[in-house]
Amino acid sequence: MKSPLDTARAAALVGGQTVARYFREGVEIRNKQSYNLVSDADIHSEQAIVEVIRRDFPDHHLLAEEEHASRTDVEHLWLIDPLDGTNNFAHHIPHFAVSVAYYRDGQPWCGVIHNPLRDDWYVAERGRGATWNGQPVQVAPHQRLDQSLIGVGFYYDRGRMMEATLAALGDFFRAQVHGIRRFGTASLDLCHVAQGMYGAYFEFELSPWDFAAGRLFVEEAGGRVTTCDGAELPLAKTSLLASNGLLHDAALEIARRHLPRREPPSEPN
Ligand code: IPD
Ligand code: CA
Ligand code: CA
Repeated sequence: MKSPLDTARAAALVGGQTVARYFREGVEIRNKQSYNLVSDADIHSEQAIVEVIRRDFPDHHLLAEEEHASRTDVEHLWLIDPLDGTNNFAHHIPHFAVSVAYYRDGQPWCGVIHNPLRDDWYVAERGRGATWNGQPVQVAPHQRLDQSLIGVGFYYDRGRMMEATLAALGDFFRAQVHGIRRFGTASLDLCHVAQGMYGAYFEFELSPWDFAAGRLFVEEAGGRVTTCDGAELPLAKTSLLASNGLLHDAALEIARRHLPRREPPSEPN
């Protein structure tokens, strides 16, 4: 029987081959909701990934962005983003990835993030470290924000959350960070924290398939991942702050200050 990590690699490989082929040959892009795009590349990558996992583990649950829903409180769960960075893909920017993670009893077990155009492989196994193309990776040693580059992501929102993210960015600049980057692929942003490129990365709303593999990659590289409120990360839609650990409190102080609060449920009339 295959290990979940072997299966995750095999699944990410076929997903990556699928999206790379569509990227080279071209594909029609559709609007899922405004600003949120989808194409046959996303759908067919997901189908190819799911086929590999189902062949090896037919009784496991699957939570994938496009066509597979599942509860998360199950023993064996696979979380799949078949094309992370769809907006880059749609605008011919060669920076996107496939993300496959396996969770056991709600805890990350292994994760693979694959950028097919660069043939980059980011692999993490719980308790066994994180590697980039076979080489161990480690977070940056920086102790202060004014020694660091910060990564950010914007959820598909043009309202409160967008304004809050912009306000937080102002405060990061005022803390004299070296710069701020928005590369548009959350899974790879997390890899950049793990590799020591970013001191920290935050986003006010992400889905489990966006961060399931990347959060393990950061943790196994010695970093820390919480919500932007400092709480343990839930396996649900959530804000997220990832850092090298040393900067976490300083970055958290800014992210938390701007994190949009959920509206309280309105009183029935
Ligand atoms: C998106 C990307 C982006 C992040 C968005 C995600 P998608 O995923 O990871 O960087 O800012 O919040 O939804 O839609 O390209 O899979
Ligand atoms: Ca995504
Ligand atoms: Ca996606």
